Amino acid sequence: MSTAPALAAVIGSPIGHSKSPLLHGHWLKALGIAGHYIPIELQTATFETGIESLRKLHFRGANVTLPFKEQAFALGDVRTDRATRSGAANTLTFTDGASYADNTDSYGFLNNLRQNVPGWSASSGPALVLGAGGASRAIIVGLLDEGVPEIRLANRTRSRADGLAAEFGDRVAPVDWQDLDAALPGAKTIVNTTSLGMGGNGAISIDLRRADTDAVVTDIVYTPLETPLLKAADTIGLTTVDGLGMLLHQAEPGFEAWFGKTPDVDTALRDVILSA
Ligand code: ATR
Repeated sequence: MSTAPALAAVIGSPIGHSKSPLLHGHWLKALGIAGHYIPIELQTATFETGIESLRKLHFRGANVTLPFKEQAFALGDVRTDRATRSGAANTLTFTDGASYADNTDSYGFLNNLRQNVPGWSASSGPALVLGAGGASRAIIVGLLDEGVPEIRLANRTRSRADGLAAEFGDRVAPVDWQDLDAALPGAKTIVNTTSLGMGGNGAISIDLRRADTDAVVTDIVYTPLETPLLKAADTIGLTTVDGLGMLLHQAEPGFEAWFGKTPDVDTALRDVILSA
């Protein structure tokens, strides 16, 4: 067995702002592991050869971010069920001449809620999901896997919500973007997967006073940590969970596969990321 330090990477374009190197670097240090996790920028045309090079250099694997998640999925020799249903991969593991493609976004989403809201369960009632892009797909997969009875799916462009409903079956019910308020009563999990609220950009027009008092509101946007949606929910006493935890939790399965230890998502990690 080689004694060389274990290597892993995050690949994207652009990649300069990725928090993943900081996150994995913190875990490597905290767990005393001799390993390195580095950012690499590739282009669409060089993605496949880039991945092949990493394999040849004995990298254990890589995270893959925008815009390569579909390409990463396509080159997996073995694909997890959740990656197949998301149509995208964010975690590649190289072993025994094979590439394993996984999508840990649904895992990150679910574990963020589980960690922050003890007793939270997707099966406790309908969910209202805002947005129908790539992040929404992964969250829909997670909610369905965990037994959500119904997903009310609202998207500005209705046809994208209709497309996901057709793909994921009759537990997913499209609702009009203009009818968000009417979709609130009864929803136990309310999720924003759109970019609205990022960088203080554009608030969602929704009247959360129509939500059930035991609804949990979460956002995948984590810049700012308290988005306008979370602030509005908090103001009227609803339980809120910010989106940073999803980023932290989605990194766990890759770290464990490549570096062999289970990392902790704790306040020390959050502080490292927030103070960067
Ligand atoms: P991601 O992979 O991060 O989900 P995406 O596929 O580009 O990114 O999806 C972005 C989501 O944010 C979409 O649901 C998009 O709605 P459209 O399908 O109508 O484009 C939503 N979104 C972005 N800007 C929005 C805005 N100003 N108002 C409402 N929804 C918006």
